[in-house]
Amino acid sequence: MQILKEKDALKKQIGAFKNEGLKIGFVPTMGALHDGHLSLIKAALSVSDRVIVSIFVNPTQFDNLQDLEKYPRTLDEDISRISEISKDVLIFSPPAAEVYGGDITSQVFYFDGLEHQMEGKYRKGHFNGVGTIVKKLFELVEPDKAFFGEKDYQQLQIIRKMVAKEGLNVEVIGCPTDREASGLARSSRNERLDPVARQNAALLYKMLQKARENFGTKSATDIISWVSEELQANPDLKLEYFEIANADTLESIGEKENGQRYRAFIAAYSGDIRLIDNIALN
Ligand code: PAF
Repeated sequence: MQILKEKDALKKQIGAFKNEGLKIGFVPTMGALHDGHLSLIKAALSVSDRVIVSIFVNPTQFDNLQDLEKYPRTLDEDISRISEISKDVLIFSPPAAEVYGGDITSQVFYFDGLEHQMEGKYRKGHFNGVGTIVKKLFELVEPDKAFFGEKDYQQLQIIRKMVAKEGLNVEVIGCPTDREASGLARSSRNERLDPVARQNAALLYKMLQKARENFGTKSATDIISWVSEELQANPDLKLEYFEIANADTLESIGEKENGQRYRAFIAAYSGDIRLIDNIALN
């Protein structure tokens, strides 16, 4: 397994891959890898000649210093998890100075308003941080295809928007959300839930499934009220938002329109652990 920490070494290796005409698949991560990440790496391996996984806890996307400090850093375990599926993956795991130089700040992007919806309302500056790091990594890795999970659907749409607006030559592939047996979307944060809280958190996906079942017959407003009431009656989870939104613009809707694609999005706390999930409704 090749593990690089310096961007010059990475660029040299990428140059060699490009000279050989190899197609590069890229999976950016912040480490603490779980089966969801591994499914992205497998998807990348299935359609690429070389796969690069970055492991970098990006400081500019955290709106809370404590969250950044508490974020799990498990490089050795991450390396062994990747090596279980392939020894042929290149891992790029740089220190912050290598990526940002002396200036750990975000570029300010305009994502045509996608950044102001849902997560954008609760995590100020988060998407500028994500855009900044993903753009920097794309410039270093020069991938043909980059793989992101649909669990962070708003992030996926924002990255697609950034690629289009900045004219970056990379195909962004969205991969289905990987779930635990209970239906809970896989996330590094699930490790912080105790077994009971982890089981209870599966209610979020159950609510999304119910929303999908009822979407053909009930109004968006009725579904939103029903989910809010169900969660208010549940002492284990504190709802932050439940929205039905246009899958392209991410604007929340009250009324459905013909010919549009919709998704339901949920964010809730189990104790101090914030969980998000979403589902396609039509
Ligand atoms: O989804 C993540 O893990 C991060 O937001 C990403 C895309 C690796 C950027 O730091």
